[in-house]
Amino acid sequence: MVLIDGKKVSSDLQQELKSSVEKHRSAIGKVPGLVVIIVGQDPASQVYVRNKAKSCKEIGMNSTVIELEAETTQQLLLDKIAELNADPDVHGILVQQPLPPHIDETAVTLAIDPKKDVDGFHPVNIGNLVLGHLDQCYISCTPNGILELLCRYGIETKGKHCVVVGRSNIVGKPMANLMVQKLDATNCTVTICHSATKDIASITRQADILIVAIGMARFIKAEMVKPGAVVIDVGINRIEDPTTKSGFRLVGDVDFEQVSLISSAITPVPGGVGPMTIAMLLKNTLQSFRRANGL
Ligand SMILES: NC(=O)c1ccc[n+]([C@@H]2O[C@H](COP(=O)([O-])OP(=O)(O)OC[C@H]3O[C@@H](n4cnc5c(N)ncnc54)[C@H](OP(=O)(O)O)[C@@H]3O)[C@@H](O)[C@H]2O)c1
Repeated sequence: MVLIDGKKVSSDLQQELKSSVEKHRSAIGKVPGLVVIIVGQDPASQVYVRNKAKSCKEIGMNSTVIELEAETTQQLLLDKIAELNADPDVHGILVQQPLPPHIDETAVTLAIDPKKDVDGFHPVNIGNLVLGHLDQCYISCTPNGILELLCRYGIETKGKHCVVVGRSNIVGKPMANLMVQKLDATNCTVTICHSATKDIASITRQADILIVAIGMARFIKAEMVKPGAVVIDVGINRIEDPTTKSGFRLVGDVDFEQVSLISSAITPVPGGVGPMTIAMLLKNTLQSFRRANGL
């Protein structure tokens, strides 16, 4: 069984990105810039935003965090985004979700210039992904990170049956659309399962590559997995654990202890898919910088 080490791949990738950023700095005197906007005081969001800014700085990119009060009007936020869309030093714009209830998330997503939408959430980027125009879009970071893991671990995908469990707009749907593309690193037959799927185990058992993103602790049991399958666990669930100092621990959507005994490769939680997401955000920002500068 191969343990797919997202922490290591993410760290390798960030080193590679760092040396690319340094090369650009010495060649043209410019570096990529990412702006993250956070509205309100959600503690989890504040941690995510801090981590994104820290990772940017570590690889030599410019990073700005704009903190807006929870009462900020939608119009003020849209005006701020318009300002950043027009700023040539800004290559990536990210608005941390969730947003306060009076702000329409769709309106915010639509306001970001698709060329700077390094989250890959804008319909133009999703549309180009579905059409297979991958050189013209940004692929959302978690699915893109999973693809990077599959590539770096040399996992064969062509003609394989990939089952994606979960159909969210940020993970399940883009993931399934990516895996079905006619690329060397994808080219799968894809099935999507969701909460209305009947007899889900009969479908997950057919998967050569099983990707699970539902947010339910240890939902996928060994009897739901084909022996030898590659299992990618996107879920991050907090469960109580009195043996730890904090009283809780993180587990995935897959029963790792049981499933790792029969899979050919598996991602752990934590340390699998999670660390890849920030790395892919940095990669998308670098790509935006290159496109903007004709590099
Ligand atoms: N590692 C990372 O960087 C990363 C990034 C994003 C998310 N996550 C984690 O991944 C998990 C999923 O996130 P998300 O944003 O995609 O979640 P989400 O928006 O809540 O979507 C969950 C999906 O799972 C489906 N689902 C729920 N219960 C199910 C069941 N019993 N059987 C089959 N399908 C079921 C839902 O089906 P319906 O559509 O029918 O409701 C929905 O499509 C969460 O734990 C999240 O924390 C991790």
